[in-house]
Amino acid sequence: MFDLEAFDIKLNTEIIGRNFIYSEEIDSTNSYLLDKAKKNNINGTVVFAEKQNKGKGRKDRVWYSAKGQNLTFSILINDKVLLKDKYNIINFAASLSVSQAIENLYQLKTELKWPNDVLVEGKKIAGILLESTSQGNKMERLVIGIGMNINQAMFQGSFNIEPTSLKVELNQSVERERVLAEILNIFEENLSHVEEHPADILKDWKVRCRMIGEKISITEGENTRYGIFDDIDDNGFLLLKAKGRLEKIHFGDVSLG
Ligand code: BTN
Repeated sequence: MFDLEAFDIKLNTEIIGRNFIYSEEIDSTNSYLLDKAKKNNINGTVVFAEKQNKGKGRKDRVWYSAKGQNLTFSILINDKVLLKDKYNIINFAASLSVSQAIENLYQLKTELKWPNDVLVEGKKIAGILLESTSQGNKMERLVIGIGMNINQAMFQGSFNIEPTSLKVELNQSVERERVLAEILNIFEENLSHVEEHPADILKDWKVRCRMIGEKISITEGENTRYGIFDDIDDNGFLLLKAKGRLEKIHFGDVSLG
């Protein structure tokens, strides 16, 4: 059972997570916050669920997470300034925050995989799904959904990247409340740099992305492209070097080789 009091003591934010919705069971924390009818309009609202019945992953995949063992939560951003054109940088700020939280609390080395997976020892420990709603051409609400494996030790099914958890890597159970508070504390700090210093977010992100400079393949649907992972541009798109030309990649699953 998630200890709300223990979590609250460790939360040092002003906005993120101050409106906190705890749920035993929900379809998807992302879907919940995307639904305008639920009238959750407070910037920084966090919805946390012990179990999701329809947890969503990127590219219409399903996100499975054992009940009560991990972190599955979503953060609502509806600050107009941030939503203007910083979608991609917020995406990087989110995965960077998860990575920094793991490093701060447990001194584990993390790796970031474009666009937003967090890996430890080459295995996936957290995934992030950004979804948004718009009115006309204006983004209204951005929902950042984070699924992080904490105390789950066994994973069943087939995965495109082998999963792991903090428990598997550390050989001991960890306090979910502490991890969630640390992620939100760091995320709020990172978010404050998104507007003024987006380059700092990208710089810290790229330090943890070990695929830059490597030969990669990128798969999007039926389509696979090959080349060198040249860089990430200022907007967060992947620059693929192939046949002497740079191509800007917006989506896809990246693999080495
Ligand atoms: C991925 O790596 O494919 C992204 C996984 C994102 C999962 C989280 S769990 C909380 C939030 N609610 C969802 O339905 N999905 C995200």
